[in-house]
Amino acid sequence: MSLKGRNFLTLKDFTKEEIYEFLELAKELKEKKKQGIFDRMYQGKNIALIFEKTSTRTRCSFEIAAHDMGIGTTYLDSKLSQMGKKESIADTARVLGRMYDGIEYRGFGQDVVEELAKYAGVPVWNGLTNEYHPTQMLADMLTIREHLGDLEGKKLVYMGDARYNMGNSLMIACAKMGMHFVAAAPKKYFPEDELVKECRRFAMESGATITFEEDPFRAVAGADIIYTDVWVSMGEPDEVWEERIRELTPYKVTMDIMNSANENAIFLHCLPAFHDLKTEIGKEMGERFSLTEMEVTDEVFQKYSDVVFDEAENRMHTIKAVIAATLG
Ligand code: CP
Ligand code: NVA
Repeated sequence: MSLKGRNFLTLKDFTKEEIYEFLELAKELKEKKKQGIFDRMYQGKNIALIFEKTSTRTRCSFEIAAHDMGIGTTYLDSKLSQMGKKESIADTARVLGRMYDGIEYRGFGQDVVEELAKYAGVPVWNGLTNEYHPTQMLADMLTIREHLGDLEGKKLVYMGDARYNMGNSLMIACAKMGMHFVAAAPKKYFPEDELVKECRRFAMESGATITFEEDPFRAVAGADIIYTDVWVSMGEPDEVWEERIRELTPYKVTMDIMNSANENAIFLHCLPAFHDLKTEIGKEMGERFSLTEMEVTDEVFQKYSDVVFDEAENRMHTIKAVIAATLG
């Protein structure tokens, strides 16, 4: 099945071969951009970028990727568009589908991006929902390939709240690509059973494994990739900070954790990261709970910063591949 005209809502909808197609295209587009070669193959097309949550990487990636390919963009945020307040998702999709050749959506429920896709008649790309963050997965997989080679057989350990977009998406990506996924957290932070079952079906085909481990040091033994994300995600209430800090601190990525993984293990983080107190929230939590960092120590973050910022750069090359492959 061709990728043309397809929506990009979750990696569950794609085969391993199709995911490799996106990754190969991203690699090619990255090399071309480094050489200053741009195929303005989509000159005259336009895409809409809907952001109901804040963003640095995803928004910039879509805008630069589009610009590099000759595509026009319109940024719509929840405060300044009619979507939701005065106009239904379905009607918004039908309007935008008449004007634009593709639509990116970042926001809350996966049901919203699915509703947009149902009515738009043009490809819809998920730029992050509460449940999934599929464009981030392509950047992560590209970065792993660049630093460690083959994806198959690699062990990725996700430390922290594995029930949310990042934990869910990494479990799906690993299951599809034949990797060994481990979520390290207290039990209540493990992904939902239904999704685990679905991923175990993908794993049967690919040779992947999916396991859950409450002991952080047991989890990271033999790991090739240690991954973490913020403990409280966008859209979650401030009241959960205290509980998250208390329950997830044992899963903070420290040098001891990194030293317990494989010798050439890498550290990845989707970013933004609370590795110091140089942010408003970091400072506030630092003062309230006497912390100097949260999900990762500054020492680990700085040691692996080349990999982490490769990962951030790769958001753009992989998002460009998604647009290029799916745009009609
Ligand atoms: N990783 C990521 O999605 O970053 P932004 O929130 O800055 O887009
Ligand atoms: N889990 C985070 C990911 C940010 C890229 C969030 O949803 O805020």
